[in-house]
Amino acid sequence: MKIAITGKGGVGKTTLTALLAQVWADRKREVLAVDADPSPCLAGALGFPSELRAGLRPVAEMDDLIYERTGARPGQVGGFFTINPRVDDIPERFSALHRGVRLLEMGAVDTGGSGCICPESAMLKTLFTHLLFRKDDVLLLDMYAGVEHLGRATVDFVDLMLVVVEPTRRSLGTAAQIRKLANDIGLQRLLLVGNKVRNPDEADFLAKESPGMPVLGILPHDPLVQEADRLGVAVYDYVPSLRKAAEGMADLLEQETALIER
Ligand SMILES: Nc1ncnc2c1ncn2[C@@H]1O[C@H](COP(=O)(O)OP(=O)(O)OP(=O)(O)O)[C@@H](O)[C@H]1O
Ligand SMILES: [Mg+2]
Repeated sequence: MKIAITGKGGVGKTTLTALLAQVWADRKREVLAVDADPSPCLAGALGFPSELRAGLRPVAEMDDLIYERTGARPGQVGGFFTINPRVDDIPERFSALHRGVRLLEMGAVDTGGSGCICPESAMLKTLFTHLLFRKDDVLLLDMYAGVEHLGRATVDFVDLMLVVVEPTRRSLGTAAQIRKLANDIGLQRLLLVGNKVRNPDEADFLAKESPGMPVLGILPHDPLVQEADRLGVAVYDYVPSLRKAAEGMADLLEQETALIER
């Protein structure tokens, strides 16, 4: 299962990614969580200890490695470079593993722009293709906010996109843009996830106003989420209401995927 998590800024993409990652890790799946935000914070949401976080280096900053493997310097366009560099040792060297979740930080890399064949993108493409892997494994890609970066390179890696929204017209507007872009580049499976929902009226609003996407589930607004952040602990451990909702979504996603693969 390869899932990208998208949505407007601040809607809860990272929170949802961390929740789903831990749900599946606890179900003994191999989980690779990729933080595609140039200012990474998925490690915090997953409750990675600071020693582990300190050792993490973003893939995009590994200029020398990229040069060594692709024959080109990052940012270089044109010229010759290997389009299928060797990447099998990268996950071990540049990722960290905590409670069954393997985390990779991409750093500031341009995965958008369908025409981009710069070295970083060749590296990432090979990396992801290499990592993905067995049928039961899970890739969760925590995207950065908005729509501009949603190029073919990203969409090629995933088979499903979750679009997180708050119960506001603005975040639904962004969701509609994301849907159009994803459809344009060939990704049809998109599901909506409502977050920070305070009451049944808000849940109804999302279902009614969804821009043509089925609602996978709803995460309630819970003041414990911010408290977890302050304490530096994982929402998964600290906020039962969100954990339970995420477990329900994981169940549905497993069923969905099973149906499609049949
Ligand atoms: N269900 C919730 N209840 C209350 N607060 C929440 C909930 N979900 C997320 N938040 C809060 O909303 C803020 C944004 O959450 P998060 O970082 O997950 O969003 P994001 O979409 O990843 O943001 P960004 O676009 O900056 O990457 C955080 O302060 C988080 O604590
Ligand atoms: Mg985020």
